[in-house]
Amino acid sequence: MPPRHYWINTSGCQMNERDSETIAAICEGLGMRACASAEQADVAILNTCAVREKPVQKVYSKLGELARLKRARPEMLIVVAGCVAQIAGDELCRRHADLLVGPRCYDQLEEALVSLQERRDGCVSLRDGKRPMGEGLPVRRASRLTAFVNVNYGCNNFCAYCIVPYARGPEQSRQPEAILAEIEGAVAEGCREVTLLGQNVNSYGHDLERDLDFPTLLEMVDAVEGVDRVRFTTSHPKDLTDRLIEAMAHLPSVCEHLHLPMQAGADGVLEAMGRGYTYEHFRSLVERAREAVPRLAVTTDVMVGFPGESEQEFEETLRAFEELQFDQAFMFKYNDRPGTRAEKIEPKVPEAEKQRRLVKLVALQNDIGREKNRRSLGESFEVLVEEPDHRSPGHVRGRTRTNKLMIFPGGPELIGQLLTVRAEEAYLWGFIGRR
Ligand code: SAH
Ligand code: SF4
Ligand code: F3S
Repeated sequence: MPPRHYWINTSGCQMNERDSETIAAICEGLGMRACASAEQADVAILNTCAVREKPVQKVYSKLGELARLKRARPEMLIVVAGCVAQIAGDELCRRHADLLVGPRCYDQLEEALVSLQERRDGCVSLRDGKRPMGEGLPVRRASRLTAFVNVNYGCNNFCAYCIVPYARGPEQSRQPEAILAEIEGAVAEGCREVTLLGQNVNSYGHDLERDLDFPTLLEMVDAVEGVDRVRFTTSHPKDLTDRLIEAMAHLPSVCEHLHLPMQAGADGVLEAMGRGYTYEHFRSLVERAREAVPRLAVTTDVMVGFPGESEQEFEETLRAFEELQFDQAFMFKYNDRPGTRAEKIEPKVPEAEKQRRLVKLVALQNDIGREKNRRSLGESFEVLVEEPDHRSPGHVRGRTRTNKLMIFPGGPELIGQLLTVRAEEAYLWGFIGRR
Protein backbone atom coordinates (compact mmCIF):
# COMPACT_ATOMS: atom_id res chain seq x y z
CA MET A 1 0.00 0.00 0.00
CA PRO A 2 1.42 3.48 -0.84
CA PRO A 3 2.12 5.68 2.19
CA ARG A 4 -0.85 7.63 3.39
CA HIS A 5 -0.59 11.38 3.91
CA TYR A 6 -1.57 13.67 6.75
CA TRP A 7 -1.99 17.42 6.72
CA ILE A 8 -2.18 19.59 9.85
CA ASN A 9 -3.38 23.16 10.04
CA THR A 10 -2.64 24.79 13.40
CA SER A 11 -4.11 27.97 14.87
CA GLY A 12 -3.99 29.45 18.37
CA CYS A 13 -1.22 29.61 20.92
CA GLN A 14 2.14 27.86 21.33
CA MET A 15 0.41 25.06 23.24
CA ASN A 16 -1.43 24.16 20.07
CA GLU A 17 1.81 24.32 18.10
CA ARG A 18 3.37 21.93 20.59
CA ASP A 19 0.32 19.66 20.47
CA SER A 20 0.54 19.57 16.67
CA GLU A 21 4.08 18.25 17.03
CA THR A 22 2.64 15.34 18.99
CA ILE A 23 -0.19 14.81 16.51
CA ALA A 24 2.39 14.77 13.68
CA ALA A 25 4.50 12.20 15.52
CA ILE A 26 1.46 9.99 16.09
CA CYS A 27 0.61 10.12 12.36
CA GLU A 28 4.21 9.33 11.40
CA GLY A 29 4.16 6.44 13.85
CA LEU A 30 1.26 5.03 11.84
CA GLY A 31 3.39 5.17 8.70
CA MET A 32 1.90 8.39 7.31
CA ARG A 33 3.85 11.22 5.74
CA ALA A 34 3.21 14.95 5.94
CA CYS A 35 1.84 16.71 2.86
CA ALA A 36 1.60 20.37 1.99
CA SER A 37 -2.10 20.74 1.25
CA ALA A 38 -5.41 19.24 2.22
CA GLU A 39 -6.02 18.21 -1.41
CA GLN A 40 -3.51 15.36 -1.12
CA ALA A 41 -4.32 14.38 2.44
CA ASP A 42 -5.81 11.08 3.53
CA VAL A 43 -6.10 12.51 7.03
CA ALA A 44 -6.77 16.27 7.30
CA ILE A 45 -6.39 17.71 10.78
CA LEU A 46 -7.44 21.14 12.03
CA ASN A 47 -5.85 21.96 15.40
CA THR A 48 -8.12 24.72 16.57
CA CYS A 49 -8.37 27.74 18.88
CA ALA A 50 -11.55 28.93 20.62
CA VAL A 51 -10.22 32.00 22.40
CA ARG A 52 -12.03 34.47 20.15
CA GLU A 53 -14.87 34.36 17.65
CA LYS A 54 -12.73 34.83 14.53
CA PRO A 55 -10.56 31.69 14.82
CA VAL A 56 -13.73 29.70 15.53
CA GLN A 57 -15.39 31.03 12.37
CA LYS A 58 -12.26 30.09 10.45
CA VAL A 59 -12.59 26.52 11.70
CA TYR A 60 -16.10 26.35 10.28
CA SER A 61 -15.05 27.75 6.92
CA LYS A 62 -12.05 25.42 6.69
CA LEU A 63 -14.27 22.53 7.70
CA GLY A 64 -16.57 23.50 4.81
CA GLU A 65 -13.63 23.32 2.38
CA LEU A 66 -12.59 19.93 3.74
CA ALA A 67 -16.15 18.64 3.47
CA ARG A 68 -16.12 19.61 -0.23
CA LEU A 69 -12.88 17.67 -0.75
CA LYS A 70 -14.39 14.74 1.07
CA ARG A 71 -17.35 14.65 -1.29
CA ALA A 72 -14.92 13.83 -4.10
CA ARG A 73 -12.84 11.49 -1.90
CA PRO A 74 -15.11 9.94 0.71
CA GLU A 75 -12.24 7.90 2.18
CA MET A 76 -10.58 11.09 3.47
CA LEU A 77 -10.66 11.47 7.26
CA ILE A 78 -11.44 14.88 8.77
CA VAL A 79 -10.09 15.40 12.27
CA VAL A 80 -10.81 18.44 14.43
CA ALA A 81 -8.35 18.70 17.32
CA GLY A 82 -7.74 21.28 20.02
CA CYS A 83 -9.89 23.79 21.84
CA VAL A 84 -12.82 24.09 19.41
CA ALA A 85 -13.12 20.29 19.31
CA GLN A 86 -13.45 20.32 23.10
CA ILE A 87 -16.02 23.12 23.19
CA ALA A 88 -18.12 22.82 20.05
CA GLY A 89 -18.53 19.03 20.00
CA ASP A 90 -21.57 17.79 18.10
CA GLU A 91 -21.83 20.83 15.87
CA LEU A 92 -18.52 19.79 14.27
CA CYS A 93 -19.83 16.28 13.70
CA ARG A 94 -22.85 17.69 11.89
CA ARG A 95 -20.38 19.50 9.64
CA HIS A 96 -18.71 16.30 8.50
CA ALA A 97 -15.85 15.88 10.98
CA ASP A 98 -15.04 12.18 11.46
CA LEU A 99 -13.07 12.57 14.66
CA LEU A 100 -12.96 15.18 17.41
CA VAL A 101 -10.04 15.15 19.79
CA GLY A 102 -9.85 17.62 22.66
CA PRO A 103 -6.55 18.95 24.00
CA ARG A 104 -6.44 16.46 26.86
CA CYS A 105 -7.08 13.40 24.73
CA TYR A 106 -4.07 12.98 22.46
CA ASP A 107 -3.18 9.79 24.29
CA GLN A 108 -6.30 8.30 22.67
CA LEU A 109 -5.59 9.59 19.16
CA GLU A 110 -3.49 6.76 17.78
CA GLU A 111 -6.02 4.10 18.65
CA ALA A 112 -8.86 6.17 17.20
CA LEU A 113 -7.02 6.74 13.92
CA VAL A 114 -6.31 3.02 13.60
CA SER A 115 -9.90 1.99 14.21
CA LEU A 116 -11.26 4.69 11.88
CA GLN A 117 -9.07 3.34 9.11
CA GLU A 118 -10.78 0.01 9.56
CA ARG A 119 -14.32 1.07 10.16
CA ARG A 120 -16.34 4.30 9.99
CA ASP A 121 -19.36 4.45 12.13
CA GLY A 122 -20.36 8.09 12.53
CA CYS A 123 -18.39 10.81 14.25
CA VAL A 124 -16.02 9.76 17.05
CA SER A 125 -15.63 12.24 19.89
CA LEU A 126 -12.66 12.09 22.28
CA ARG A 127 -13.22 14.75 24.87
CA ASP A 128 -12.89 13.01 28.25
CA GLY A 129 -9.26 13.40 29.16
CA LYS A 130 -7.74 11.21 31.83
CA ARG A 131 -4.99 12.14 34.25
CA PRO A 132 -2.06 12.21 34.03
CA MET A 133 -2.07 13.55 30.53
CA GLY A 134 0.62 14.24 28.02
CA GLU A 135 3.37 11.94 29.30
CA GLY A 136 4.89 9.32 27.09
CA LEU A 137 3.51 10.76 23.86
CA PRO A 138 5.88 11.11 20.91
CA VAL A 139 6.92 14.43 19.41
CA ARG A 140 8.08 15.50 15.99
CA ARG A 141 9.47 19.00 16.49
CA ALA A 142 8.93 21.65 13.85
CA SER A 143 12.34 23.12 14.66
CA ARG A 144 15.59 21.39 15.52
CA LEU A 145 16.96 24.47 17.32
CA THR A 146 14.08 25.56 19.50
CA ALA A 147 11.65 23.49 21.53
CA PHE A 148 8.32 24.16 23.20
CA VAL A 149 8.01 22.23 26.45
CA ASN A 150 4.83 22.21 28.53
CA VAL A 151 5.29 22.71 32.25
CA ASN A 152 1.65 22.87 33.28
CA TYR A 153 -1.53 22.09 31.39
CA GLY A 154 -4.92 23.72 31.81
CA CYS A 155 -5.90 26.70 33.93
CA ASN A 156 -7.78 27.28 37.17
CA ASN A 157 -8.08 31.04 36.96
CA PHE A 158 -11.37 31.46 35.12
CA CYS A 159 -10.81 35.08 34.14
CA ALA A 160 -14.30 36.36 33.38
CA TYR A 161 -13.79 36.62 29.62
CA CYS A 162 -11.79 33.47 28.99
CA ILE A 163 -12.75 30.12 27.51
CA VAL A 164 -9.37 28.44 28.02
CA PRO A 165 -10.19 26.75 31.37
CA TYR A 166 -13.24 25.15 29.71
CA ALA A 167 -11.22 24.04 26.71
CA ARG A 168 -8.10 22.86 28.49
CA GLY A 169 -9.45 21.77 31.85
CA PRO A 170 -8.00 22.20 35.34
CA GLU A 171 -4.40 23.09 35.93
CA GLN A 172 -2.01 20.15 36.12
CA SER A 173 1.73 20.49 36.63
CA ARG A 174 4.05 18.00 35.02
CA GLN A 175 6.61 16.23 37.17
CA PRO A 176 9.98 17.98 36.88
CA GLU A 177 11.66 14.72 35.83
CA ALA A 178 9.37 14.50 32.80
CA ILE A 179 10.06 18.14 31.87
CA LEU A 180 13.82 17.73 32.22
CA ALA A 181 13.83 14.46 30.29
CA GLU A 182 11.94 16.12 27.42
CA ILE A 183 14.43 18.99 27.40
CA GLU A 184 17.41 16.63 27.46
CA GLY A 185 15.90 14.74 24.55
CA ALA A 186 15.49 17.94 22.55
CA VAL A 187 19.06 19.01 23.35
CA ALA A 188 20.37 15.63 22.21
CA GLU A 189 18.76 16.40 18.83
CA GLY A 190 20.44 19.80 18.58
CA CYS A 191 18.07 22.13 20.40
CA ARG A 192 19.63 25.26 21.95
CA GLU A 193 16.58 27.21 23.09
CA VAL A 194 13.67 26.01 25.19
CA THR A 195 10.35 27.80 25.73
CA LEU A 196 8.49 26.59 28.80
CA LEU A 197 4.74 26.70 28.28
CA GLY A 198 1.79 27.08 30.59
CA GLN A 199 -1.32 29.28 30.70
CA ASN A 200 0.15 30.47 33.97
CA VAL A 201 3.67 29.18 34.49
CA ASN A 202 3.88 31.11 37.76
CA SER A 203 1.51 28.71 39.45
CA TYR A 204 3.64 25.73 38.40
CA GLY A 205 4.03 23.19 41.21
CA HIS A 206 1.06 24.24 43.39
CA ASP A 207 -0.62 20.91 42.72
CA LEU A 208 2.48 18.73 43.12
CA GLU A 209 3.01 16.81 46.33
CA ARG A 210 6.56 18.03 46.70
CA ASP A 211 7.63 21.56 47.45
CA LEU A 212 8.48 22.98 44.05
CA ASP A 213 7.75 26.29 42.37
CA PHE A 214 8.45 27.83 38.99
CA PRO A 215 11.65 29.71 39.95
CA THR A 216 13.09 26.42 41.25
CA LEU A 217 12.08 24.68 38.03
CA LEU A 218 13.85 27.44 36.09
CA GLU A 219 17.01 26.71 38.09
CA MET A 220 16.74 23.04 37.18
CA VAL A 221 16.24 23.82 33.49
CA ASP A 222 19.09 26.34 33.51
CA ALA A 223 21.36 23.58 34.82
CA VAL A 224 20.65 21.24 31.89
CA GLU A 225 23.83 20.88 29.87
CA GLY A 226 23.49 22.34 26.37
CA VAL A 227 20.50 24.64 26.98
CA ASP A 228 21.73 28.08 25.93
CA ARG A 229 18.46 29.94 26.24
CA VAL A 230 15.32 29.51 28.31
CA ARG A 231 12.10 31.41 27.68
CA PHE A 232 8.71 30.99 29.32
CA THR A 233 5.14 32.03 28.71
CA THR A 234 2.67 33.03 30.10
CA SER A 235 3.29 34.70 33.45
CA HIS A 236 0.16 35.72 35.30
CA PRO A 237 0.85 39.00 37.14
CA LYS A 238 -1.04 37.91 40.24
CA ASP A 239 1.40 35.03 40.79
CA LEU A 240 4.64 36.72 39.78
CA THR A 241 6.99 36.73 42.75
CA ASP A 242 10.27 38.43 43.60
CA ARG A 243 11.80 34.96 43.46
CA LEU A 244 10.95 34.78 39.76
CA ILE A 245 12.51 38.18 39.13
CA GLU A 246 15.63 37.06 41.00
CA ALA A 247 15.77 33.87 38.97
CA MET A 248 15.54 35.89 35.75
CA ALA A 249 18.31 38.16 36.95
CA HIS A 250 20.68 35.39 38.03
CA LEU A 251 20.20 32.38 35.79
CA PRO A 252 22.46 32.83 32.77
CA SER A 253 20.31 30.96 30.25
CA VAL A 254 17.02 32.69 31.14
CA CYS A 255 16.36 35.31 28.46
CA GLU A 256 15.73 38.99 29.11
CA HIS A 257 12.10 38.86 28.05
CA LEU A 258 8.99 38.91 30.19
CA HIS A 259 5.56 38.40 28.64
CA LEU A 260 3.17 39.79 31.23
CA PRO A 261 -0.44 40.22 30.11
CA MET A 262 -1.95 43.37 31.56
CA GLN A 263 -5.40 42.99 29.90
CA ALA A 264 -6.60 46.46 31.01
CA GLY A 265 -5.29 49.62 32.65
CA ALA A 266 -8.33 50.51 34.78
CA ASP A 267 -8.82 48.88 38.16
CA GLY A 268 -12.60 48.59 37.73
CA VAL A 269 -12.14 46.60 34.53
CA LEU A 270 -9.38 44.42 36.03
CA GLU A 271 -11.72 43.70 38.94
CA ALA A 272 -14.60 42.75 36.66
CA MET A 273 -12.24 40.53 34.68
CA GLY A 274 -11.26 38.77 37.90
CA ARG A 275 -7.56 39.23 37.26
CA GLY A 276 -6.57 39.58 40.91
CA TYR A 277 -4.32 42.65 40.65
CA THR A 278 -4.56 46.41 40.34
CA TYR A 279 -2.85 48.55 37.74
CA GLU A 280 -0.54 49.87 40.44
CA HIS A 281 0.57 46.36 41.34
CA PHE A 282 1.14 45.53 37.68
CA ARG A 283 3.19 48.70 37.22
CA SER A 284 5.35 47.89 40.23
CA LEU A 285 6.04 44.38 38.88
CA VAL A 286 7.22 45.80 35.56
CA GLU A 287 9.40 48.34 37.33
CA ARG A 288 10.96 45.79 39.66
CA ALA A 289 11.65 43.38 36.81
CA ARG A 290 13.26 46.13 34.74
CA GLU A 291 15.44 47.21 37.65
CA ALA A 292 16.63 43.67 38.30
CA VAL A 293 17.16 42.59 34.69
CA PRO A 294 19.14 44.97 32.50
CA ARG A 295 17.81 45.35 28.93
CA LEU A 296 14.66 43.43 29.81
CA ALA A 297 12.02 43.42 27.06
CA VAL A 298 8.46 43.45 28.39
CA THR A 299 5.53 42.41 26.22
CA THR A 300 1.86 42.16 27.05
CA ASP A 301 -1.68 41.18 26.04
CA VAL A 302 -4.51 43.67 26.31
CA MET A 303 -8.17 43.83 25.47
CA VAL A 304 -10.40 46.79 24.64
CA GLY A 305 -14.16 46.96 25.05
CA PHE A 306 -14.66 44.58 27.96
CA PRO A 307 -18.37 44.84 28.92
CA GLY A 308 -18.93 48.08 30.82
CA GLU A 309 -15.53 49.57 29.91
CA SER A 310 -16.11 53.34 29.81
CA GLU A 311 -14.28 55.82 27.62
CA GLN A 312 -12.44 57.00 30.71
CA GLU A 313 -11.38 53.45 31.58
CA PHE A 314 -10.15 52.89 28.05
CA GLU A 315 -8.08 56.06 28.39
CA GLU A 316 -6.49 54.54 31.48
CA THR A 317 -5.30 51.69 29.26
CA LEU A 318 -3.82 54.25 26.85
CA ARG A 319 -2.09 56.01 29.74
CA ALA A 320 -0.77 52.68 31.04
CA PHE A 321 0.72 51.95 27.62
CA GLU A 322 2.36 55.37 27.56
CA GLU A 323 3.74 54.86 31.03
CA LEU A 324 4.96 51.28 30.70
CA GLN A 325 6.44 51.46 27.19
CA PHE A 326 6.00 47.82 26.24
CA ASP A 327 8.29 46.38 23.60
CA GLN A 328 5.34 44.68 21.97
CA ALA A 329 1.68 44.08 22.69
CA PHE A 330 -0.94 41.66 21.45
CA MET A 331 -4.07 43.78 21.30
CA PHE A 332 -7.59 42.41 20.99
CA LYS A 333 -11.20 43.50 20.88
CA TYR A 334 -13.15 41.78 23.63
CA ASN A 335 -15.33 38.93 22.34
CA ASP A 336 -18.16 37.18 24.15
CA ARG A 337 -17.26 33.55 24.74
CA PRO A 338 -20.08 31.11 25.42
CA GLY A 339 -20.46 30.09 29.05
CA THR A 340 -18.06 32.64 30.50
CA ARG A 341 -19.03 35.12 33.23
CA ALA A 342 -18.35 38.14 31.04
CA GLU A 343 -20.87 36.92 28.48
CA LYS A 344 -23.56 37.90 30.99
CA ILE A 345 -22.10 41.30 31.93
CA GLU A 346 -23.92 44.32 30.52
CA PRO A 347 -23.74 46.79 28.89
CA LYS A 348 -21.68 45.52 25.97
CA VAL A 349 -19.45 48.00 24.18
CA PRO A 350 -20.71 48.37 20.58
CA GLU A 351 -18.54 46.80 17.87
CA ALA A 352 -17.75 50.14 16.19
CA GLU A 353 -16.60 51.57 19.49
CA LYS A 354 -14.39 48.55 20.21
CA GLN A 355 -12.89 48.96 16.77
CA ARG A 356 -12.21 52.66 17.38
CA ARG A 357 -10.50 51.89 20.68
CA LEU A 358 -8.40 49.14 19.16
CA VAL A 359 -7.22 51.32 16.27
CA LYS A 360 -6.23 54.05 18.71
CA LEU A 361 -4.33 51.69 21.00
CA VAL A 362 -2.57 49.94 18.12
CA ALA A 363 -1.43 53.28 16.70
CA LEU A 364 -0.03 54.32 20.07
CA GLN A 365 1.76 51.01 20.64
CA ASN A 366 3.20 50.97 17.12
CA ASP A 367 4.83 54.34 17.79
CA ILE A 368 6.16 53.11 21.12
CA GLY A 369 7.48 49.82 19.74
CA ARG A 370 9.15 51.47 16.76
CA GLU A 371 10.74 54.14 18.93
CA LYS A 372 12.01 51.55 21.43
CA ASN A 373 13.73 49.63 18.67
CA ARG A 374 15.12 52.85 17.21
CA ARG A 375 16.73 53.61 20.56
CA SER A 376 18.62 50.29 20.34
CA LEU A 377 20.30 51.18 17.05
CA GLY A 378 24.03 50.56 17.21
CA GLU A 379 23.71 48.09 20.08
CA SER A 380 24.93 44.51 19.76
CA PHE A 381 22.68 41.55 20.42
CA GLU A 382 23.21 37.83 20.78
CA VAL A 383 21.22 36.13 18.01
CA LEU A 384 20.38 32.46 17.63
CA VAL A 385 20.40 31.99 13.85
CA GLU A 386 17.32 29.97 12.95
CA GLU A 387 16.82 30.00 9.18
CA PRO A 388 17.50 31.71 5.85
CA ASP A 389 15.43 34.85 5.39
CA HIS A 390 13.31 33.91 2.43
CA ARG A 391 12.46 37.46 1.46
CA SER A 392 16.04 38.73 1.27
CA PRO A 393 18.43 36.32 -0.43
CA GLY A 394 21.86 36.11 1.20
CA HIS A 395 20.37 36.92 4.61
CA VAL A 396 19.54 34.80 7.65
CA ARG A 397 17.17 35.46 10.53
CA GLY A 398 17.06 34.74 14.22
CA ARG A 399 15.94 36.18 17.53
CA THR A 400 17.70 38.21 20.15
CA ARG A 401 17.47 37.15 23.78
CA THR A 402 14.90 39.95 24.09
CA ASN A 403 12.83 38.06 21.48
CA LYS A 404 13.26 40.57 18.65
CA LEU A 405 13.70 39.47 15.10
CA MET A 406 17.12 40.18 13.58
CA ILE A 407 17.81 39.79 9.86
CA PHE A 408 21.41 40.06 8.69
CA PRO A 409 23.69 39.06 5.82
CA GLY A 410 24.88 35.48 5.96
CA GLY A 411 24.48 32.01 4.54
CA PRO A 412 22.92 28.78 5.75
CA GLU A 413 26.20 27.69 7.37
CA LEU A 414 25.38 30.12 10.20
CA ILE A 415 22.18 28.32 11.16
CA GLY A 416 22.34 27.01 14.70
CA GLN A 417 25.03 29.44 15.83
CA LEU A 418 24.81 32.06 18.56
CA LEU A 419 26.30 35.21 17.05
CA THR A 420 26.74 38.81 18.07
CA VAL A 421 24.96 41.11 15.65
CA ARG A 422 24.78 44.92 15.62
CA ALA A 423 21.38 46.54 15.01
CA GLU A 424 21.67 48.86 12.01
CA GLU A 425 18.09 49.51 10.94
CA ALA A 426 15.12 49.50 13.30
CA TYR A 427 11.55 48.57 12.41
CA LEU A 428 8.43 47.71 14.32
CA TRP A 429 9.10 44.00 13.75
CA GLY A 430 12.77 44.11 14.77
CA PHE A 431 16.11 44.91 13.20
CA ILE A 432 18.29 44.57 10.17
CA GLY A 433 21.82 44.09 11.42
CA ARG A 434 25.40 43.27 10.57
CA ARG A 435 28.01 41.09 12.27
N1 SAH B 1 -3.07 32.53 29.96
C1 SAH B 1 -2.82 33.78 29.36
C2 SAH B 1 -3.77 34.12 28.24
C3 SAH B 1 -4.16 33.10 27.23
S1 SAH B 1 -5.33 33.64 26.04
C4 SAH B 1 -2.96 34.86 30.43
O1 SAH B 1 -3.51 34.64 31.47
O2 SAH B 1 -2.56 35.95 30.18
C5 SAH B 1 -4.37 34.86 25.15
C6 SAH B 1 -4.96 36.24 25.17
O3 SAH B 1 -6.17 36.26 24.46
C7 SAH B 1 -5.32 36.78 26.52
O4 SAH B 1 -4.21 37.30 27.21
C8 SAH B 1 -6.35 37.84 26.21
O5 SAH B 1 -5.73 39.10 26.01
C9 SAH B 1 -6.95 37.35 24.92
N2 SAH B 1 -8.32 36.89 25.15
C10 SAH B 1 -8.73 35.89 25.94
N3 SAH B 1 -10.09 35.79 25.95
C11 SAH B 1 -10.54 36.78 25.13
C12 SAH B 1 -11.82 37.22 24.73
N4 SAH B 1 -12.94 36.65 25.19
N5 SAH B 1 -11.91 38.27 23.86
C13 SAH B 1 -10.79 38.87 23.40
N6 SAH B 1 -9.55 38.50 23.76
C14 SAH B 1 -9.41 37.47 24.60
FE1 SF4 C 1 -7.56 32.52 30.49
FE2 SF4 C 1 -7.07 33.81 32.73
FE3 SF4 C 1 -6.39 31.25 32.50
FE4 SF4 C 1 -5.05 33.09 31.14
S1 SF4 C 1 -5.14 32.91 33.36
S2 SF4 C 1 -5.83 31.15 30.36
S3 SF4 C 1 -6.64 34.57 30.64
S4 SF4 C 1 -8.47 32.08 32.51
FE1 F3S D 1 -6.59 29.14 21.74
FE2 F3S D 1 -6.77 26.98 23.16
FE3 F3S D 1 -4.48 28.32 23.07
S1 F3S D 1 -8.33 28.50 22.97
S2 F3S D 1 -5.15 30.42 22.78
S3 F3S D 1 -5.45 27.30 21.38
S4 F3S D 1 -5.35 27.27 24.81
